[in-house]
Amino acid sequence: MNEFYQKDIISIKDFDKENLEKIFAATDKIMNLAPSERREICKGKTLGYLFYEPSTRTRLSFDSAMASIGGNSLGISDVSSSSTQKGESLADTIRIMSIYSDALVLRHTLDGSSRFASEVSEKPVINAGSGTEEHPTQAIQDLFTIKKEKKKIDGLKIGIVGDLKYGRTVYSLLYGLGNYDVDVRLISPESLKIRSDSVYEIKKRLDYTESTNLEEHIDELDVLYVTRIQKERFPDEEEYLKLKGSYVVGLDLLKQMKSDSIILHPLPRIDEISPDVDKTQNAKYFEQAEYGKHVRAALLGLILNENGF
Ligand code: NCD
Repeated sequence: MNEFYQKDIISIKDFDKENLEKIFAATDKIMNLAPSERREICKGKTLGYLFYEPSTRTRLSFDSAMASIGGNSLGISDVSSSSTQKGESLADTIRIMSIYSDALVLRHTLDGSSRFASEVSEKPVINAGSGTEEHPTQAIQDLFTIKKEKKKIDGLKIGIVGDLKYGRTVYSLLYGLGNYDVDVRLISPESLKIRSDSVYEIKKRLDYTESTNLEEHIDELDVLYVTRIQKERFPDEEEYLKLKGSYVVGLDLLKQMKSDSIILHPLPRIDEISPDVDKTQNAKYFEQAEYGKHVRAALLGLILNENGF
């Protein structure tokens, strides 16, 4: 039996290097299959999604991933139009959705929401963003992108810049990178450093340095992972306005980077990468979004087929 069959994907902490490498191999396989072969993988299967927060890429990439492997998807992308407005609990909504689908994808404002959903759901649950806590499929996509574009992960110098306090993709990426031998530089304004309650967990997995100055590190990096300041998570808008625009990656900064370095971003981008960077060979964030579809198709193929594909 394939080890991912019927498995929940709640935290990337549940995956070791061997698990990740198997997902990467399955993703490569998906990318190399003819479309007609791909469509056999989840033929007749249904993915259910519930999004309690806005999303473009994550939801559409799950949708198109499922379609590419022959399945279909249904769900609620705007919970304000569902029975939640009538007072239905998350537990009941999950139970109902799990009747209609073979696997569930959940995005929710609360930390712990996906873990809770997996306890009440009969079907496997995939966390597509739980509060400020984690976004594991994004991290698998990020690691896969690094591996494809740099041909390795071990030995790289990786800078992560922006909102490290509220950015859930950062936490999942750090836990995932803990499986590799990497040199990590965390760069953020003082007030947006990684949360102190997560420091212990991260330090257990990898070594990192912290700084407020991107220029200090820029010429050494192999990967620059840029994140958006998470406006919606700030308790105080004034505070957001002060920090907005703290780091902007433009062509002048790019000149200081190694020519073969890559720039990633989970997207959406606001103003932290200037659009004229998009056409450079270093910009890989749109490729990253495309890999996301294949990574999710591979995950769904593994979760929904006892013997893999
Ligand atoms: C991220 C998220 O939702 O955490 N978006 C995504 O899924 N690609 C990043 C963000 O919103 O900044």
